[in-house]
Amino acid sequence: MSKTSAVDTIGILTSGGDASGMNAAIRAVARTAWDRGVKVKGIKRGYSGLLNREIFDMDRTFTGDIISRGGTVLFTARCEEFKQEEYQKKAADICREEGIDGLVVIGGDGSFRGAQKLAAQGINTVALPGTIDLDIPCTEYTIGFDTAVNVAMEAIDKIRDTSTSHERCSIVEVMGRNAGYIALWCGIAAGAEDIIIPERFDGNRPKLEAKLIDSILEKKALGKKHHLIINAEGIGHSYGMAKRIEQGTGVETRATILGYMQRGGSPTAKDRVYASYMGALAVDLLCAGATNRVVGYRNGQYIDYDIEDALGMQKDVDEYEFQIAQVLGR
Ligand code: ADP
Ligand code: F6P
Repeated sequence: MSKTSAVDTIGILTSGGDASGMNAAIRAVARTAWDRGVKVKGIKRGYSGLLNREIFDMDRTFTGDIISRGGTVLFTARCEEFKQEEYQKKAADICREEGIDGLVVIGGDGSFRGAQKLAAQGINTVALPGTIDLDIPCTEYTIGFDTAVNVAMEAIDKIRDTSTSHERCSIVEVMGRNAGYIALWCGIAAGAEDIIIPERFDGNRPKLEAKLIDSILEKKALGKKHHLIINAEGIGHSYGMAKRIEQGTGVETRATILGYMQRGGSPTAKDRVYASYMGALAVDLLCAGATNRVVGYRNGQYIDYDIEDALGMQKDVDEYEFQIAQVLGR
């Protein structure tokens, strides 16, 4: 063990939905730990793998050739039973038996709750925000968001070609669970005419569709040859919407749901670099004796928060960004 480190062995797990850049984070955690004289254990399949002792000594070969790969080489899983204290205690005992005295959890806010519970059981734990949805309030960046937005943007560019050629309207549904960040970003990046997000939806679907119909007719009159609508998963109903919009406008309308392609693919440079920085920082926090922390990125800086505080924070889409998206779509 390094003389200066508060931990001897760091375990790493990925939990919840996979996100591109998780491998860069795993690599950074392992290599920084080794540099600091700390041993590393990989835990497969999230909390479920921890409970099943799917734990192995990580060596340098494991972290080779992974920075450019999407997904997570540690696999990921959801584990309902981990929400019960009995299993959290069991997991902490397993960590102690395996000599794991520091843990890095890479996942979304559900995974953070698990990390918090393990910290309460005496395992020093630091969490990293890994989700394509960007729906974690304490941070302006989450691992995988940038790649997902770029994948969606490229797909929408392709859909635009056929939409223009056939002078159609296209509704493209993107992921994000209850958050509209992916929709807003890929919508602006791909020059969409309309972007619909849960954060700015009052629940009145007929009103929303009437507004879209007006928008299509207005832009057609201005000479537009296509009309791209980006619809967030949290709004959904893209196929039904397409039918009703076609009936209301007389413009042929097609819906495409992009789905899991947004979770995969080689991570962008941004996801690789930010994930690398966050992975290294997690290790240095653990080596300094920190626990129950989550790493975020805010106002141009990497920063760490108490997990409880982080889970209590709130955030919203930038109103100016939402407004200009509409101006630029005209
Ligand atoms: P994400 O981490 O992407 O938000 P989930 O919400 O599915 O994904 O959470 C991932 C896993 O984290 C869950 O399957 C469970 O094992 C663990 N988890 C979620 N909520 C809690 C909780 N309240 N207490 C303990 N563990 C939790
Ligand atoms: O959280 C990432 C995400 O891809 C969401 O955008 C989506 O709602 C959800 O996961 C899908 O989850 P699953 O992999 O369980 O289908």
